[in-house]
Amino acid sequence: MEINFPLGFLWGAATSSHQVEGGNINDWSQWEKNNAERLASEAKNKWQSWQQEKFPAMFELQNYISSQACDHYNRWQEDFDMAKSLGHNAHRFSLEWSRIEPKKGEFDQAAIDHYSQMISGLGKRGMEPFVTINHFSLPQWFANMGGWESQEAVLCFGKFVDHLAKTLGHQITFWLTLNEPWIYIVNSYWRGVWPPQKRSWWRCLRVYKNLFNAHKTAYNIIKSYHPEAQVGLAENNVYFEGWLSGPAHWLVNRQFLSLSGQRLDFIGVNYYFHNKIKGFNFRKNDNHQVSDLGWELYPKGLFYVLRRLKKYRKPIYITEGGLADARDLQRANFIKSQLFYISEALAEGVDVRGYFYWSLLDNFEWDKGFWPRFGLAEIDYKTQERKIRSSAWEYAKICKENKLII
Ligand code: BGC
Repeated sequence: MEINFPLGFLWGAATSSHQVEGGNINDWSQWEKNNAERLASEAKNKWQSWQQEKFPAMFELQNYISSQACDHYNRWQEDFDMAKSLGHNAHRFSLEWSRIEPKKGEFDQAAIDHYSQMISGLGKRGMEPFVTINHFSLPQWFANMGGWESQEAVLCFGKFVDHLAKTLGHQITFWLTLNEPWIYIVNSYWRGVWPPQKRSWWRCLRVYKNLFNAHKTAYNIIKSYHPEAQVGLAENNVYFEGWLSGPAHWLVNRQFLSLSGQRLDFIGVNYYFHNKIKGFNFRKNDNHQVSDLGWELYPKGLFYVLRRLKKYRKPIYITEGGLADARDLQRANFIKSQLFYISEALAEGVDVRGYFYWSLLDNFEWDKGFWPRFGLAEIDYKTQERKIRSSAWEYAKICKENKLII
Protein backbone atom coordinates (compact mmCIF):
# COMPACT_ATOMS: atom_id res chain seq x y z
CA MET A 1 0.00 0.00 0.00
CA GLU A 2 1.22 3.50 -0.91
CA ILE A 3 0.14 6.47 1.21
CA ASN A 4 0.86 9.97 -0.03
CA PHE A 5 1.03 12.77 2.50
CA PRO A 6 -0.35 16.25 1.75
CA LEU A 7 1.92 18.58 -0.20
CA GLY A 8 4.05 20.68 2.13
CA PHE A 9 3.80 18.19 5.02
CA LEU A 10 6.58 18.90 7.52
CA TRP A 11 8.96 16.08 8.41
CA GLY A 12 11.57 16.25 11.09
CA ALA A 13 12.74 15.44 14.57
CA ALA A 14 12.72 17.26 17.90
CA THR A 15 15.20 18.02 20.69
CA SER A 16 15.22 20.22 23.77
CA SER A 17 18.04 22.44 24.99
CA HIS A 18 18.88 20.83 28.31
CA GLN A 19 18.68 17.32 26.91
CA VAL A 20 21.19 17.85 24.11
CA GLU A 21 23.20 21.06 24.47
CA GLY A 22 25.60 20.26 27.28
CA GLY A 23 27.23 22.78 29.60
CA ASN A 24 24.00 24.27 30.91
CA ILE A 25 23.83 25.85 34.34
CA ASN A 26 20.19 25.78 35.39
CA ASP A 27 17.79 24.27 37.93
CA TRP A 28 18.35 20.80 36.48
CA SER A 29 22.16 20.88 36.47
CA GLN A 30 22.07 21.77 40.16
CA TRP A 31 19.46 19.12 40.96
CA GLU A 32 21.41 16.45 39.06
CA LYS A 33 24.47 17.01 41.27
CA ASN A 34 22.38 16.68 44.41
CA ASN A 35 20.42 13.63 43.28
CA ALA A 36 22.65 11.52 41.02
CA GLU A 37 23.80 9.21 43.80
CA ARG A 38 20.26 8.62 45.03
CA LEU A 39 18.96 7.97 41.51
CA ALA A 40 21.74 5.46 40.80
CA SER A 41 20.98 3.55 43.99
CA GLU A 42 17.21 3.60 43.42
CA ALA A 43 17.57 1.99 39.99
CA LYS A 44 17.62 -1.48 41.57
CA ASN A 45 14.05 -1.13 42.81
CA LYS A 46 12.76 0.97 39.98
CA TRP A 47 13.49 -1.11 36.89
CA GLN A 48 12.73 -4.69 35.96
CA SER A 49 15.56 -7.24 35.83
CA TRP A 50 15.67 -7.36 32.02
CA GLN A 51 16.16 -3.59 31.99
CA GLN A 52 18.84 -3.74 34.69
CA GLU A 53 20.72 -6.40 32.76
CA LYS A 54 20.46 -4.62 29.45
CA PHE A 55 21.31 -1.14 30.77
CA PRO A 56 23.89 -1.35 33.58
CA ALA A 57 24.60 2.36 33.03
CA MET A 58 21.53 3.04 35.18
CA PHE A 59 23.63 2.15 38.26
CA GLU A 60 26.30 4.70 37.46
CA LEU A 61 26.28 8.13 38.99
CA GLN A 62 27.48 9.74 35.73
CA ASN A 63 24.34 8.52 33.97
CA TYR A 64 22.34 11.09 35.93
CA ILE A 65 24.54 14.14 35.25
CA SER A 66 23.80 15.95 32.01
CA SER A 67 27.29 17.49 31.82
CA GLN A 68 28.28 17.77 28.13
CA ALA A 69 25.18 15.83 26.99
CA CYS A 70 25.44 15.62 23.17
CA ASP A 71 27.50 18.80 22.96
CA HIS A 72 24.86 19.99 20.52
CA TYR A 73 25.52 23.60 21.51
CA ASN A 74 28.84 23.28 19.66
CA ARG A 75 27.95 20.59 17.15
CA TRP A 76 24.61 21.87 15.89
CA GLN A 77 25.91 22.40 12.35
CA GLU A 78 26.99 18.78 12.04
CA ASP A 79 23.66 17.69 13.55
CA PHE A 80 21.61 19.85 11.20
CA ASP A 81 23.63 18.54 8.23
CA MET A 82 22.70 15.06 9.36
CA ALA A 83 18.99 15.98 9.66
CA LYS A 84 19.13 17.45 6.17
CA SER A 85 20.74 14.30 4.79
CA LEU A 86 17.85 12.40 6.38
CA GLY A 87 15.38 14.39 4.30
CA HIS A 88 14.00 16.51 7.16
CA ASN A 89 12.37 19.74 6.05
CA ALA A 90 11.63 20.96 9.59
CA HIS A 91 13.22 20.77 13.03
CA ARG A 92 11.94 21.40 16.55
CA PHE A 93 14.30 22.62 19.27
CA SER A 94 14.11 24.77 22.39
CA LEU A 95 15.79 27.93 23.62
CA GLU A 96 17.68 27.66 26.88
CA TRP A 97 16.37 30.45 29.12
CA SER A 98 19.34 30.16 31.51
CA ARG A 99 21.76 30.98 28.69
CA ILE A 100 19.75 33.88 27.30
CA GLU A 101 18.95 35.44 30.70
CA PRO A 102 21.66 34.14 33.06
CA LYS A 103 20.78 36.81 35.64
CA LYS A 104 17.37 38.32 36.19
CA GLY A 105 16.84 41.11 33.68
CA GLU A 106 20.29 40.68 32.07
CA PHE A 107 20.23 39.24 28.59
CA ASP A 108 23.26 37.70 26.94
CA GLN A 109 23.67 38.86 23.37
CA ALA A 110 26.10 36.02 22.57
CA ALA A 111 23.39 33.46 23.40
CA ILE A 112 20.86 35.30 21.25
CA ASP A 113 23.39 35.38 18.40
CA HIS A 114 23.95 31.68 18.84
CA TYR A 115 20.26 30.81 18.51
CA SER A 116 19.88 33.28 15.66
CA GLN A 117 22.64 31.44 13.79
CA MET A 118 20.99 28.12 14.52
CA ILE A 119 17.70 29.37 13.12
CA SER A 120 19.31 30.74 9.97
CA GLY A 121 21.33 27.51 9.74
CA LEU A 122 18.06 25.62 9.54
CA GLY A 123 16.79 28.03 6.89
CA LYS A 124 19.92 27.53 4.79
CA ARG A 125 19.35 23.79 4.92
CA GLY A 126 15.72 24.13 3.88
CA MET A 127 14.33 23.22 7.31
CA GLU A 128 11.48 25.09 8.99
CA PRO A 129 12.30 25.94 12.61
CA PHE A 130 9.76 25.07 15.34
CA VAL A 131 10.99 26.92 18.39
CA THR A 132 9.97 25.94 21.92
CA ILE A 133 10.37 28.82 24.36
CA ASN A 134 10.47 26.69 27.50
CA HIS A 135 11.07 22.95 27.62
CA PHE A 136 11.14 22.30 31.40
CA SER A 137 14.57 23.68 32.39
CA LEU A 138 14.69 27.01 34.26
CA PRO A 139 17.38 29.56 35.11
CA GLN A 140 18.64 29.11 38.66
CA TRP A 141 17.61 32.67 39.63
CA PHE A 142 14.04 31.92 38.53
CA ALA A 143 14.01 28.63 40.46
CA ASN A 144 15.41 30.41 43.57
CA MET A 145 12.60 32.93 43.31
CA GLY A 146 10.09 30.07 43.63
CA GLY A 147 10.01 28.97 39.99
CA TRP A 148 6.56 28.64 38.45
CA GLU A 149 5.01 29.03 41.90
CA SER A 150 6.23 32.57 42.28
CA GLN A 151 3.83 35.49 41.96
CA GLU A 152 6.39 37.12 39.69
CA ALA A 153 6.76 34.06 37.42
CA VAL A 154 4.48 35.20 34.63
CA LEU A 155 5.92 38.71 34.62
CA CYS A 156 9.49 37.37 34.38
CA PHE A 157 8.55 34.92 31.65
CA GLY A 158 6.79 37.75 29.78
CA LYS A 159 9.97 39.86 29.87
CA PHE A 160 11.95 36.93 28.52
CA VAL A 161 9.46 36.36 25.72
CA ASP A 162 9.41 40.06 24.92
CA HIS A 163 13.18 39.94 24.46
CA LEU A 164 12.89 36.90 22.21
CA ALA A 165 10.15 38.45 20.12
CA LYS A 166 12.29 41.57 19.62
CA THR A 167 15.58 39.82 18.88
CA LEU A 168 14.65 36.56 17.17
CA GLY A 169 11.02 37.04 16.23
CA HIS A 170 11.71 38.14 12.66
CA GLN A 171 13.32 34.74 12.00
CA ILE A 172 10.63 32.50 13.47
CA THR A 173 7.20 31.55 12.16
CA PHE A 174 6.32 28.62 14.45
CA TRP A 175 6.55 29.08 18.21
CA LEU A 176 5.66 26.67 20.99
CA THR A 177 5.29 28.62 24.21
CA LEU A 178 5.60 25.68 26.63
CA ASN A 179 6.28 21.99 26.46
CA GLU A 180 3.79 19.70 28.21
CA PRO A 181 2.70 21.90 31.13
CA TRP A 182 0.69 19.02 32.58
CA ILE A 183 3.66 16.62 32.61
CA TYR A 184 5.78 19.30 34.25
CA ILE A 185 3.22 19.80 37.02
CA VAL A 186 2.74 16.07 37.56
CA ASN A 187 6.45 15.26 37.78
CA SER A 188 7.60 18.32 39.70
CA TYR A 189 4.70 19.02 42.05
CA TRP A 190 2.50 15.94 42.23
CA ARG A 191 4.83 12.92 42.03
CA GLY A 192 7.74 15.10 43.16
CA VAL A 193 10.34 13.31 41.04
CA TRP A 194 11.67 16.35 39.15
CA PRO A 195 13.00 19.61 40.50
CA PRO A 196 11.89 21.33 42.65
CA GLN A 197 10.35 18.10 44.10
CA LYS A 198 7.69 19.95 46.08
CA ARG A 199 4.63 17.78 46.39
CA SER A 200 1.31 19.43 47.13
CA TRP A 201 -2.04 19.89 45.49
CA TRP A 202 -2.02 23.50 46.39
CA ARG A 203 1.28 24.04 44.58
CA CYS A 204 -0.02 22.11 41.56
CA LEU A 205 -2.90 24.53 41.25
CA ARG A 206 -0.73 27.60 41.63
CA VAL A 207 1.76 26.36 39.04
CA TYR A 208 -1.06 25.39 36.72
CA LYS A 209 -2.51 28.90 36.91
CA ASN A 210 0.89 30.48 36.28
CA LEU A 211 1.76 28.22 33.36
CA PHE A 212 -1.60 28.90 31.85
CA ASN A 213 -1.13 32.66 32.18
CA ALA A 214 2.43 32.32 30.91
CA HIS A 215 1.13 30.74 27.73
CA LYS A 216 -1.47 33.46 27.23
CA THR A 217 1.04 36.22 27.95
CA ALA A 218 3.60 34.76 25.56
CA TYR A 219 0.97 34.38 22.87
CA ASN A 220 -0.10 38.00 23.19
CA ILE A 221 3.45 39.35 23.23
CA ILE A 222 4.59 37.44 20.17
CA LYS A 223 1.47 38.37 18.24
CA SER A 224 1.85 42.04 19.14
CA TYR A 225 5.26 42.14 17.43
CA HIS A 226 4.59 39.56 14.73
CA PRO A 227 0.90 39.15 13.92
CA GLU A 228 1.74 36.61 11.24
CA ALA A 229 3.56 34.27 13.66
CA GLN A 230 1.98 30.91 14.41
CA VAL A 231 1.94 30.33 18.14
CA GLY A 232 0.95 27.06 19.77
CA LEU A 233 1.98 24.81 22.60
CA ALA A 234 3.07 21.18 22.88
CA GLU A 235 0.66 19.08 24.91
CA ASN A 236 1.20 15.54 26.07
CA ASN A 237 -1.80 13.49 24.91
CA VAL A 238 -2.64 10.16 26.47
CA TYR A 239 -5.10 7.78 24.84
CA PHE A 240 -7.39 6.61 27.65
CA GLU A 241 -9.58 3.55 27.27
CA GLY A 242 -12.18 2.26 29.73
CA TRP A 243 -15.05 3.57 31.78
CA LEU A 244 -13.25 6.51 33.41
CA SER A 245 -11.65 7.53 30.15
CA GLY A 246 -13.94 10.57 29.65
CA PRO A 247 -12.92 12.50 32.79
CA ALA A 248 -9.31 11.29 32.55
CA HIS A 249 -9.18 12.50 28.95
CA TRP A 250 -10.55 15.88 29.90
CA LEU A 251 -8.25 16.31 32.86
CA VAL A 252 -5.02 15.23 31.17
CA ASN A 253 -5.47 16.16 27.53
CA ARG A 254 -8.08 18.81 27.28
CA GLN A 255 -8.32 21.40 30.04
CA PHE A 256 -5.26 23.43 29.04
CA LEU A 257 -6.27 23.35 25.42
CA SER A 258 -9.90 24.26 26.01
CA LEU A 259 -9.00 27.09 28.35
CA SER A 260 -6.47 28.47 25.87
CA GLY A 261 -9.39 29.17 23.54
CA GLN A 262 -8.45 31.58 20.82
CA ARG A 263 -4.86 31.87 21.96
CA LEU A 264 -3.63 28.94 19.94
CA ASP A 265 -2.88 29.05 16.22
CA PHE A 266 -2.07 25.37 16.09
CA ILE A 267 -1.95 22.37 18.39
CA GLY A 268 1.29 20.52 19.11
CA VAL A 269 0.67 16.89 20.02
CA ASN A 270 3.22 14.80 21.93
CA TYR A 271 1.99 11.22 22.02
CA TYR A 272 3.60 8.40 24.01
CA PHE A 273 1.01 6.76 26.21
CA HIS A 274 -2.02 4.52 26.10
CA ASN A 275 -3.80 4.03 29.39
CA LYS A 276 -6.35 1.25 29.71
CA ILE A 277 -8.51 1.72 32.79
CA LYS A 278 -10.01 -1.39 34.41
CA GLY A 279 -12.10 -0.84 37.52
CA PHE A 280 -10.27 1.89 39.39
CA ASN A 281 -6.91 0.74 38.07
CA PHE A 282 -5.05 2.79 35.52
CA ARG A 283 -2.31 1.53 33.16
CA LYS A 284 -3.88 -1.91 32.69
CA ASN A 285 -2.39 -2.17 29.23
CA ASP A 286 -1.83 -5.42 27.37
CA ASN A 287 1.83 -4.49 26.85
CA HIS A 288 2.27 -6.82 23.89
CA GLN A 289 5.17 -4.67 22.78
CA VAL A 290 7.13 -2.33 25.02
CA SER A 291 10.06 0.04 24.61
CA ASP A 292 13.30 -0.17 26.60
CA LEU A 293 11.57 1.95 29.24
CA GLY A 294 8.77 -0.63 29.48
CA TRP A 295 6.29 1.83 27.94
CA GLU A 296 3.68 0.08 25.85
CA LEU A 297 3.98 0.68 22.10
CA TYR A 298 0.48 1.53 20.96
CA PRO A 299 0.69 3.67 17.81
CA LYS A 300 -3.03 3.36 17.13
CA GLY A 301 -3.70 5.55 20.15
CA LEU A 302 -2.38 8.47 18.11
CA PHE A 303 -5.29 8.02 15.70
CA TYR A 304 -7.84 8.25 18.53
CA VAL A 305 -6.08 11.24 20.06
CA LEU A 306 -6.08 13.04 16.72
CA ARG A 307 -9.70 12.24 16.00
CA ARG A 308 -10.72 13.82 19.29
CA LEU A 309 -8.80 16.97 18.44
CA LYS A 310 -10.69 17.52 15.20
CA LYS A 311 -13.37 19.58 16.88
CA TYR A 312 -10.89 22.38 17.66
CA ARG A 313 -10.54 23.04 13.92
CA LYS A 314 -6.88 23.98 14.24
CA PRO A 315 -3.84 22.77 12.32
CA ILE A 316 -2.11 19.99 14.22
CA TYR A 317 1.57 19.10 14.29
CA ILE A 318 2.84 15.97 15.98
CA THR A 319 5.56 17.72 17.93
CA GLU A 320 6.83 14.47 19.51
CA GLY A 321 6.39 10.75 18.97
CA GLY A 322 9.11 8.23 19.66
CA LEU A 323 10.49 5.39 21.71
CA ALA A 324 13.57 4.29 23.61
CA ASP A 325 15.04 1.46 21.56
CA ALA A 326 18.81 1.14 21.96
CA ARG A 327 19.13 -1.78 19.55
CA ASP A 328 16.91 -0.14 16.96
CA LEU A 329 14.78 -3.26 16.61
CA GLN A 330 11.35 -1.64 16.83
CA ARG A 331 11.88 1.98 15.80
CA ALA A 332 11.32 1.74 12.04
CA ASN A 333 8.05 -0.18 12.40
CA PHE A 334 6.90 2.06 15.19
CA ILE A 335 7.44 5.20 13.09
CA LYS A 336 5.68 3.63 10.12
CA SER A 337 2.70 2.60 12.24
CA GLN A 338 2.43 6.09 13.73
CA LEU A 339 2.49 7.54 10.23
CA PHE A 340 -0.11 5.07 9.05
CA TYR A 341 -2.46 6.16 11.85
CA ILE A 342 -1.78 9.80 11.04
CA SER A 343 -2.83 9.07 7.47
CA GLU A 344 -6.02 7.49 8.80
CA ALA A 345 -6.71 10.64 10.79
CA LEU A 346 -6.03 12.76 7.69
CA ALA A 347 -8.53 10.64 5.79
CA GLU A 348 -11.11 11.53 8.45
CA GLY A 349 -10.47 15.22 7.89
CA VAL A 350 -8.10 15.93 10.80
CA ASP A 351 -5.76 18.72 9.70
CA VAL A 352 -2.36 17.17 10.53
CA ARG A 353 0.49 19.13 8.96
CA GLY A 354 3.70 17.65 10.29
CA TYR A 355 5.51 14.99 12.28
CA PHE A 356 8.57 15.39 14.50
CA TYR A 357 10.15 12.17 15.69
CA TRP A 358 11.50 12.34 19.27
CA SER A 359 14.42 12.62 19.03
CA LEU A 360 17.08 13.46 16.49
CA LEU A 361 19.79 12.34 18.92
CA ASP A 362 20.03 10.04 21.91
CA ASN A 363 19.92 12.43 24.82
CA PHE A 364 19.53 13.15 28.52
CA GLU A 365 16.19 11.67 29.53
CA TRP A 366 15.66 13.84 32.63
CA ASP A 367 15.60 11.88 35.91
CA LYS A 368 16.38 8.66 34.02
CA GLY A 369 19.60 10.02 32.61
CA PHE A 370 21.34 8.80 29.48
CA TRP A 371 20.54 5.10 29.30
CA PRO A 372 17.19 5.36 27.41
CA ARG A 373 18.05 5.83 23.75
CA PHE A 374 15.43 7.66 21.72
CA GLY A 375 17.66 8.93 18.90
CA LEU A 376 17.56 8.58 15.16
CA ALA A 377 21.28 8.90 15.73
CA GLU A 378 23.16 7.00 18.38
CA ILE A 379 25.59 8.99 20.49
CA ASP A 380 28.81 7.67 21.92
CA TYR A 381 28.96 9.95 24.96
CA LYS A 382 32.71 9.37 25.40
CA THR A 383 33.71 10.51 21.92
CA GLN A 384 30.54 12.42 20.89
CA GLU A 385 30.52 10.37 17.72
CA ARG A 386 27.13 10.25 15.98
CA LYS A 387 26.04 7.07 14.24
CA ILE A 388 22.88 7.18 12.18
CA ARG A 389 20.62 4.24 13.04
CA SER A 390 19.15 2.20 10.22
CA SER A 391 15.57 3.16 11.20
CA ALA A 392 16.58 6.79 10.55
CA TRP A 393 17.23 5.87 6.91
CA GLU A 394 13.85 4.20 6.63
CA TYR A 395 12.22 7.32 8.03
CA ALA A 396 14.38 9.41 5.66
CA LYS A 397 12.93 7.59 2.66
CA ILE A 398 9.42 8.55 3.78
CA CYS A 399 10.43 12.17 4.41
CA LYS A 400 12.12 12.49 1.02
CA GLU A 401 9.28 10.92 -0.95
CA ASN A 402 6.49 12.42 1.18
CA LYS A 403 5.09 8.93 0.97
CA LEU A 404 4.73 5.87 3.17
CA ILE A 405 4.91 2.44 1.59
CA ILE A 406 3.71 -0.47 3.72
C1 BGC B 1 9.29 15.31 26.69
C2 BGC B 1 10.73 15.02 26.33
C3 BGC B 1 11.10 13.60 26.75
C4 BGC B 1 10.17 12.64 26.04
C5 BGC B 1 10.43 11.18 26.35
C6 BGC B 1 8.34 14.18 26.43
O1 BGC B 1 7.41 14.11 27.47
O2 BGC B 1 8.87 16.49 26.05
O3 BGC B 1 11.54 15.97 26.92
O4 BGC B 1 12.41 13.30 26.52
O5 BGC B 1 8.86 12.90 26.43
O6 BGC B 1 10.18 10.90 27.68
